[in-house]
Amino acid sequence: MRLRSFFFSIFSLSRSPSPSLPSSRFSSLSAAMSPALEKSRQGNGECNDDLKSKVTVVGSGNWGSVAAKLIASNALKLPSFHDEVRMWVFEEVLPNGEKLTDIINKTNENVKYLPGIKLGRNVVADPDLENAVKEANMLVFVTPHQFMDGICKRLDGKITGDVEAISLVKGMEVKKEGPCMISSLISKQLGINCCVLMGANIANEIAVEKFSEATVGYRESREIADTWVQLFSTPYFMVTPVHDVEGVELCGTLKNVVAIAAGFVDGLEMGNNTKAAIMRIGLREMKALSKLLFPSVKDSTFFESCGVADVITTCLGGRNRRVAEAYAKSGGKRSFDELEAEMLQGQKLQGVSTAREVYEVLNHCGWVEMFPLFSTVHQICTGRLQPEAIVQYREHKA
Ligand SMILES: NC(=O)c1ccc[n+]([C@@H]2O[C@H](COP(=O)([O-])OP(=O)(O)OC[C@H]3O[C@@H](n4cnc5c(N)ncnc54)[C@H](O)[C@@H]3O)[C@@H](O)[C@H]2O)c1
Repeated sequence: MRLRSFFFSIFSLSRSPSPSLPSSRFSSLSAAMSPALEKSRQGNGECNDDLKSKVTVVGSGNWGSVAAKLIASNALKLPSFHDEVRMWVFEEVLPNGEKLTDIINKTNENVKYLPGIKLGRNVVADPDLENAVKEANMLVFVTPHQFMDGICKRLDGKITGDVEAISLVKGMEVKKEGPCMISSLISKQLGINCCVLMGANIANEIAVEKFSEATVGYRESREIADTWVQLFSTPYFMVTPVHDVEGVELCGTLKNVVAIAAGFVDGLEMGNNTKAAIMRIGLREMKALSKLLFPSVKDSTFFESCGVADVITTCLGGRNRRVAEAYAKSGGKRSFDELEAEMLQGQKLQGVSTAREVYEVLNHCGWVEMFPLFSTVHQICTGRLQPEAIVQYREHKA
């Protein structure tokens, strides 16, 4: 019975029509984005201010700051966007006594989370969440996933008019009815449509404009997805739309668990063959769990940047891998919390909490045996198994 209601809730979530698409401004935006119209606007350099879209980035960590930089450079070039891009900053006082927001607005640099990179003069840091979103009709959510429930609660009832959202957040919430993807949390709590952008995107590499790709997952409107693609794309950041919001988001979420496993392998110096095996098994479990949760998820999504490419980059270079490597090197004696604080200086790990959330779902559904890699990662993270256990299981077919 519990399982039935759980399935009902996740399947109704996947099928529920997202809140109806915004009316006036977005239809005009879609029109504004047609190549012919855009060309004519670029020709005379004019665009009615009321029709211009305003973007706010909710979040200002490592990836949040890079996202603001990408968007800010495009907002200046595309006539259908206001030049100014707001960025909500979770206010912090730095060791020199200055507020992070003030420094960002003075130096145009997020000295704590993205030092050495200019964000663009048109990025305005704002410590007041409600003020930051109040005039925006395009919201980009990019904070560690554990803060998203609180942020959505603070914004509940405050978002009005025709507003579109996109989530760059990798992670999920587990509620008593089952897993809730962050895009669904945003859609349900704020009553707005929400796309996702995921991919093989280590923020510091994109910050220095090294070429990479990303995937936009969308539910309904291809036109809205194209607008997001346009807002993020640069010659060094190639974005592809995919009609599979759950598949794209689950790839971005679950790969962080695989990255933790890869970190254990590195910490134990098990070598490249073992790491490749872990990545393959991890990708297989990502696909199997995604399809069990959302049968609409497409196989082809796993071949996009959000799938195999993100698994590769995150298992080679990401922060989850790095901290898990240190954990294994300590023989499991140092806690993840301690290592996170010491190694990441305010940046947040996602893989350990995602492993716990995934385990809760597997346990709830009676699927633990079918996902030995995911389950083992959680048990190592909680100290119930030693890091060596990462290769000590038999693979079951999901
Ligand atoms: N960093 C990357 O390379 C990268 C790449 C792709 C996706 N992502 C995803 O982007 C999302 C955001 O990550 P990030 O790298 O921008 O952040 P981060 O881990 O670098 O920084 C943590 C952020 O959380 C904020 N914060 C701290 N306490 C908070 C609170 N109580 N409420 C709200 N905010 C608080 C901090 O001010 C800071 O902005 C995550 O889901 C991550 O998985 C990150």
